[in-house]
Amino acid sequence: MSFTRRQILGGLAALGVAGLGASGVRYWLGRPENVATHDYELIAAPLDVELVPGHMTTAWAYGGQAPGLELRCRQGERLRVRFINKLDVSTTIHWHGIRLPLAMDGVPYVSQLPVLPGEYFDYDFITPDAGSYWYHPHLGSSEQLGRGLVGPLIVDEREPSGFAHERTLCLKSWHLDEQGAFTAFSVPRDAARGGTPGRLSTINGVHAPTLDLPAGEVVRLRLLNLDNTLTYRLNLPGADARIYALDGNPVAPRPLGKEYWLGPGMRIDLALRVPAAGIELPLRNGPLRLATLRGQASDATPGEWPAALPANPVSEPDVEGAQTLRFNFEWTATLAENLPAGAKASYWQINGKAWDIADKNCADKPIASLELGKSYIFELRNMAQYQHPIHLHGLSFKVLSSNRHSVIPYFTDTYLLGKNEVARIALVADNPGVWMFHCHVIDHMETGLMAAIEVV
Ligand code: C2O
Ligand code: CU
Ligand code: CU
Repeated sequence: MSFTRRQILGGLAALGVAGLGASGVRYWLGRPENVATHDYELIAAPLDVELVPGHMTTAWAYGGQAPGLELRCRQGERLRVRFINKLDVSTTIHWHGIRLPLAMDGVPYVSQLPVLPGEYFDYDFITPDAGSYWYHPHLGSSEQLGRGLVGPLIVDEREPSGFAHERTLCLKSWHLDEQGAFTAFSVPRDAARGGTPGRLSTINGVHAPTLDLPAGEVVRLRLLNLDNTLTYRLNLPGADARIYALDGNPVAPRPLGKEYWLGPGMRIDLALRVPAAGIELPLRNGPLRLATLRGQASDATPGEWPAALPANPVSEPDVEGAQTLRFNFEWTATLAENLPAGAKASYWQINGKAWDIADKNCADKPIASLELGKSYIFELRNMAQYQHPIHLHGLSFKVLSSNRHSVIPYFTDTYLLGKNEVARIALVADNPGVWMFHCHVIDHMETGLMAAIEVV
């Protein structure tokens, strides 16, 4: 694959950039004719944050925040982000869940060259689907995401959705000790199992916050799992909460129920009827409290439950005529102790092949080749006892069925494949490119559980 020469930060002065402020400064002067645009300048840089009270941690931040600045635009409009790398490592940005052209997908050596320290890269794409998405690097992932390079990307519906209030809640557990120092982001023993967990759970960078919400109102809560490892078993005991969208895509509203398992990379949009002023609700991960939601006196008249959100324009797969492809997610017992010095451990593979993150040419050997415009069914088979949130770039897919639980078919970009589960998903291969297909437990992805699928 060939790429054009990268651009160097020194050239910015000549471009008339007004100042490298920490937040999403608008800088583009020209406007294209038809499509409305949303322009951001986004800087990645080290930032001291107080995650553990009384201690400073040097995180890596997007737009002066960790988790990163919330980027927003409207469905069908154009998002332009001048990304400036002020870190001392190379990086990229991947736009998780957005169906975009390959050149904007942020995968090093597959869609672009790494953005070197001091360089910038202009991302520019239309956002076809409304919903809750996010962005993160696709390079040095366990460390880069671990240090805080994760941020929300919210695409608003074309028409008002009926929600008068909303909140974005970014879930992340930091790999920190009691003094706020980073601990190992990836430990071989854990990478070969469920992944290396962080210790400090946070929402929007705060441990167990209390969030005040307007009493009696219906609020849209966008919960984003931006964690490297953890599947959150979300529950809101005592709450009147309904699911409106999964991973960006609308579903027929239904009660949250007892618990929803939100794997790494996954999102859920809930509508919550906020309790009366002063009443508190725990938002929990299993039995652990993540946040306290508290009703706050409001003079607004209580809102109604909004109608279902409009479906995104995702092509409906032809399940009858589809070809079926099988993908086995396997555990391999290559223990780190037996590896030659310097070799990268490999614990996982797909159909007998382990991805090697050190090999720039891995994507030249796609695991499957799909014909543009055709429908496919993927049979996903988890051969191990650890969960894999299976994610595909560039395309949305429809979850059809599982041998473990009943499925109401829905569109997504990430499916949490439970232990020893077999699930069927379907898609129309309508976006040409080379698309990464991987587990979003970062440890698994970096030790083999990744592949490329081409659409030609
Ligand atoms: Cu969240 Cu390869 O992506
Ligand atoms: Cu992605
Ligand atoms: Cu996995």
